[in-house]
Amino acid sequence: MLFRAISWFLLKLRYNSKMRRAIFPGSFDPLTNGHLDIIRRSSPLFDEMIVAVLNNAEKHPMFTVEERCSMIRTVLPTVETGECRLVVDSFSGLTADFARDQNATAIVRGIRAVSDYEYELRMALMNRRLEPTIETVFLMAGEEYSYVSSTLMKQVFELGGRVEGLIPQLVEARMREKTRMREKKGQAI
Ligand code: PNS
Repeated sequence: MLFRAISWFLLKLRYNSKMRRAIFPGSFDPLTNGHLDIIRRSSPLFDEMIVAVLNNAEKHPMFTVEERCSMIRTVLPTVETGECRLVVDSFSGLTADFARDQNATAIVRGIRAVSDYEYELRMALMNRRLEPTIETVFLMAGEEYSYVSSTLMKQVFELGGRVEGLIPQLVEARMREKTRMREKKGQAI
């Protein structure tokens, strides 16, 4: 009983403090160096950032949500984020609801090119309508990652192209394992 009361008090204290918490939502199927670049660039702006992996089973992702979270957790310590604490979590449903439930004040998104802008603008406006207290913060991706997307990485990888330097080595190894397993089972990738 006492333990529960202390836990509740500490939780309340944590949420009531002026902590600047952001979420960085995405499919992360898989994590790319472009994502890591956005995490690194945005980290000085926040005390805590939750890398929020969308549980989107209906989209037939290459990796399960658990696999994606596990890869991100393994790779994140390689990113220099100073004082900003990184947390990895998954969510289903609306990003705005997840952000509010986590007491986040910002949603971080990266913009690579003008072509991203329209989609991102619509999402940001919708999220603002759903949850007016949460701002979307856009960061420009590093030029070297301006063409890197998870979808493109999967396509190139599956067709035997080189993706090193664009995705973390661990992710590349897991993609190789996944492809081997699927080939064994005779499944399409
Ligand atoms: O990495 P992605 O696929 O570009 O990320 C897109 C994501 C997960 C941010 C977006 O699809 C999303 O927010 N999905 C959750 C459902 C939702 O909130 N939809 C309304 C957004 S306005």
